Amino acid sequence: MARITAGATMSHVPVVGRAIDTDQTGTDYWKPAFAGFEFSKQWIKDNLPDVIFLVYNDHATAFDMKIIPTFGIGCGEEFPPADEGYGPRPVPTVKGAPDLAWHIAQSVIEDEFDLTIINEMKVDHGLTVPLSLMFGKPTEWPCRVIPFPVNVVLYPPPSGKRCYALGKAIRKAVEKFDEDLNVHIWGTGGMSHQLQGPRAGLINREWDKSFLDRLTSDPDALARIPHIEYVREAGSEGIEMVMWLIMRGALGDKVEEVHRHYHVPASNTALGHIILETR
Ligand code: DHB
Ligand code: FE
Repeated sequence: MARITAGATMSHVPVVGRAIDTDQTGTDYWKPAFAGFEFSKQWIKDNLPDVIFLVYNDHATAFDMKIIPTFGIGCGEEFPPADEGYGPRPVPTVKGAPDLAWHIAQSVIEDEFDLTIINEMKVDHGLTVPLSLMFGKPTEWPCRVIPFPVNVVLYPPPSGKRCYALGKAIRKAVEKFDEDLNVHIWGTGGMSHQLQGPRAGLINREWDKSFLDRLTSDPDALARIPHIEYVREAGSEGIEMVMWLIMRGALGDKVEEVHRHYHVPASNTALGHIILETR
């Protein structure tokens, strides 16, 4: 039987990827941001999963205004890095896990979450930066990855409540898969940030800390946060954090926080990272 044993969340700021690609992680500016991932890089080596179910958002890269799925699931064999304007990042092509992905699609759709099935897609910084933060610069990613893009770019995005419930359906699906696989689920994006308009550069440490605290202790309360509160308190791009609730829903009731890192600023955002193990 497959099982979800751990979850991780992390911001996916594109310049963080650039710092890794150009070996700038040890500079005065970047050192404290990356220091918080030293634990995580060792932890993932010691707890390497077979598959990462990676919840992220596409930033008008694979999808443009023509078609934007609310929830998509990558069922293909592989997903190459996208060109976001400066050429593709020099990172390996992501290898998918089609058998598990199709199984999850079947189970979750039967549970009335209408996923879009994606067989071919390029993946942007939303997916590749978290992999680089955890694995550094390998020639191949050390495990398979199921990309799970969520629309948080164009209103209306899904509610936190819907995302949390979807996470629970994903857990149920994984536990019904008839192969002995260790699966991790990651929720990426966040934390508070706004990239445009008069409030560009907004960072709200108190709100971020409270979100991180409640991710372990009171996810039901987080699931009740309405869109307007994300926008008001965490900035227009803070809405990315609903994706963390998919991860949290998939971890079940009992989790232990084994690592946390919060750093301000990374570019003009708050960088937040947490690792939860199921108990
Ligand atoms: C930036 C872009 C993102 O997608 C994000 O989540 C955080 C920051 C940026 O362009 O700085
Ligand atoms: Fe983003």
